[in-house]
Amino acid sequence: MASGSRYSLTGNTMQVISLCDFTGIMVKPWAEAGHDCLCLDLQHPFGETTSGRITKRRADVRTLTPSELPKPDIIFAFPPCTNLAVSGARWMKDKGIQGLIDGLQLVESCRKLCQWYQCPWMLENPISILSTCWRKPDAVFQPWEFGDNYTKKTCIWLGGGFMFPTPSVREEPEEVQQLIWRMAPSPERAAERSKTPQGFAKAVFKANSNRVGESEEPVDGFPVPGPDPRSQ
Ligand SMILES: C[S@@+](CC[C@H](N)C(=O)[O-])C[C@H]1O[C@@H](n2cnc3c(N)ncnc32)[C@H](O)[C@@H]1O
Repeated sequence: MASGSRYSLTGNTMQVISLCDFTGIMVKPWAEAGHDCLCLDLQHPFGETTSGRITKRRADVRTLTPSELPKPDIIFAFPPCTNLAVSGARWMKDKGIQGLIDGLQLVESCRKLCQWYQCPWMLENPISILSTCWRKPDAVFQPWEFGDNYTKKTCIWLGGGFMFPTPSVREEPEEVQQLIWRMAPSPERAAERSKTPQGFAKAVFKANSNRVGESEEPVDGFPVPGPDPRSQ
């Protein structure tokens, strides 16, 4: 068990970090509840822009170190799946070994940051080769299970006491949309597909924001904070 209260989640302002997060949808419920949120993404404008409780900072997760971040109470990560998704397997050959290395490097950079602080964390990816080369996901969900009107099988790896929310919808509603997926491949379609589902974001907030106490032992035992993880 980590020493001391790592995340007193009631009454105190929390620090939320979201990696590879362009839209900030994931942190919106936290910001609305008065918590400080930092979204890091390569697509943000240079420097930092703050609106209300949400700060967006341009950053490359591959070179980001804990010394550049505030100590978080909870971390989310959405590394790109372009080179890892099973749905893109037939293109994997074209992307070659370097494509695979690039994709895995992004995930590994996020994983190290997530596990560094021994606080609750989750990392999202679609059905991907991560199940084979890291471990099976801790949870798999469809956006419609949390009230978003579309399908996209999504995997979650989690740790540090992160609570995966209980789905509010058990059976796929008939009106679930496939519209986004019918769009022709384009940058707009890719951006639309990668947005965090709002219902899931709200459910994660509900499941994790009112907990008091110590962080649980990280799932795969990341050591007590010491040297920068990049030097290991
Ligand atoms: C799958 S999308 C996730 C989007 C997220 N769910 C959202 O709602 O904004 C992956 C994100 O990773 C960002 N990204 C790609 N390479 C990155 C890097 N090296 N460092 C930080 N962010 C990166 C992309 O700009 C994109 O916004």
